[in-house]
Amino acid sequence: MRLDRFLSEASPLTRSLAKRALKNGEVTLNGEPVKQASIQVDTAQDEVMLNGEKLALVGLRYLMMHKPTDVECTARRGLYPRVIDLIDLPKVERLQPVGRLDVDTTGLLLLTDDGQWSHRVTSPKHRCAKVYIAELAEPVEGSKAEWAMKQVAEGIMLDDEETPTQPATLRFLTPQRAELTITEGRYHQVKRMFAALGNHVNALHRQSIGEIAIPDDLAPGEWRELTPEEIASF
Ligand code: URA
Repeated sequence: MRLDRFLSEASPLTRSLAKRALKNGEVTLNGEPVKQASIQVDTAQDEVMLNGEKLALVGLRYLMMHKPTDVECTARRGLYPRVIDLIDLPKVERLQPVGRLDVDTTGLLLLTDDGQWSHRVTSPKHRCAKVYIAELAEPVEGSKAEWAMKQVAEGIMLDDEETPTQPATLRFLTPQRAELTITEGRYHQVKRMFAALGNHVNALHRQSIGEIAIPDDLAPGEWRELTPEEIASF
């Protein structure tokens, strides 16, 4: 890897600030001062220091967060704080949410800088189950509940879509609290499915993705690294 790229990946410096640091003599390679940005670094063996501090590559990261409300899954700064603003890690802007949650949705959010892993989780081809708990505006009981569960199991045609939703599972925990398990991630899918059933979602929470469920001790706004087993489960 070129030295200026290594510096920009392993320190807070951008590529151009890395070049400036090189020119200013702030960098050593295996103990020798170095100014050449294009020099190749062996990332497994060479020792690069910036102002006397040893640098190491960040590597791929896999996190889970309990997303609170009023936090956005976007990369750009907007009206609300971003989920990455809640994470105190170097190069945090490289972390991408693995499938977004709406600003008012809470629950399990995965984040990574591994694009291939993210694709495995989100691609509809992999049919990864996502479980949501929806608080509904209208109570649903008896034959209405039976009808709604059948519609969801058979697939629902959503507004402006050409194909029905994939077969999914709906369970009523109470007349106004439902658990919906889906294997796709269409735009506002859960809210649109309940709208198509003549209801409205007052609050939405994602409980799990595949085998990963949100732990009881992870409070809203908190995050932790995924375990190797959790990463390998996709
Ligand atoms: N479906 C929705 O409607 N909103 C979400 O945040 C996630 C799934």
